[in-house]
Amino acid sequence: MKAKSLQILSTSAQEIGTAASLLEQGKLVAFPTETVYGLGADARNDGAVASIFAAKGRPSFNPLIVHVATSDVAARYVEFDDVAARLASAFWPGALTLVLPLRPQSGISKLVTAGLATLAVRVPDHPVVQSLLAAFDGPIAAPSANPSGRVSPTTAAHVRSGLDGRIDAVVDGGACNVGVESTIISCGPQPALLRAGGIPAEAIEAALGAPLLRTSDPATPQSPGQLASHYAPSGAVRLNARDCKGDEVLLGFGSVETEFNLSKSGNLIEAAANLFEMLHRLDALGAKKIAISPIPDHGLGAAINDRLRRAAAPRE
Ligand code: TXA
Ligand code: MG
Repeated sequence: MKAKSLQILSTSAQEIGTAASLLEQGKLVAFPTETVYGLGADARNDGAVASIFAAKGRPSFNPLIVHVATSDVAARYVEFDDVAARLASAFWPGALTLVLPLRPQSGISKLVTAGLATLAVRVPDHPVVQSLLAAFDGPIAAPSANPSGRVSPTTAAHVRSGLDGRIDAVVDGGACNVGVESTIISCGPQPALLRAGGIPAEAIEAALGAPLLRTSDPATPQSPGQLASHYAPSGAVRLNARDCKGDEVLLGFGSVETEFNLSKSGNLIEAAANLFEMLHRLDALGAKKIAISPIPDHGLGAAINDRLRRAAAPRE
């Protein structure tokens, strides 16, 4: 039996209301954020959260990010220390996720945290998810709205092509302008970078006035679920390609000749915004081998290279 196709909702107040009532009924609704589209469920509803894992085909040990409207709402669920308060005031709303101690009696489903004593929270900066949070008036758990291991979605069309028949609705708010997922920081006395993302680590270090621990450092807690092969297009990926072999398609950066260029002018912000869209287009084209130009590793380049290394990692 074919599952029913997903409803495409507009961003009108009425259809945001429809999206909020679907969430209240424990259904799954995808929505745009400034980073990527999220696949949302009521973070307090075990059944709804479980259906996120089922829809994505995601290993259930991988905890989820909870989206809330403001820092004050976040403080109902997690405990802020000085570092966390400083980062929240510098970067929220925005592409930053903070991993903080979960409050007892938070009401958040244990499936969201995968049983950890910490919760990843984020206040997103996008008018559509903010109006959905206002209409729903509760915490929304949301991973990226793609089948597990595949390229993250930056348009409603990407969501539909990956998850049609497996989720209830997507709110179509156009393309995401950051284009890579949020930066994840664990707080505490020694804040650590758990995932490079939409806010460059350098900007966070400048706000803190101190360096972040990096995942290469043995003292850094690992972010669970950061699987090696991830963000993968169907085709094989070769990194740091200075040239393009006969049967490869080149995903370029800077002044190289190709139909697919992340940023001809070498702008890393533009490249991040184009990354997943171009990987989706290469998938749609059926590209079997993808060569990718070297990308500088500073600013948003660190997040882009993190995603590309996972796209190129050996697959199961
Ligand atoms: O930009 C984003 O962050 C998007 C949008 C939708 O907000 N969301 C997103 O979620 O990328 P997801 O589920 O694809 O990535 C969440 C990552 C997981 O890989 C997990 O490792 C980490 O967050 N995470 C969640 N809870 C954690 C915790 N308590 N401690 C450490 N890492 C955690
Ligand atoms: Mg994801």
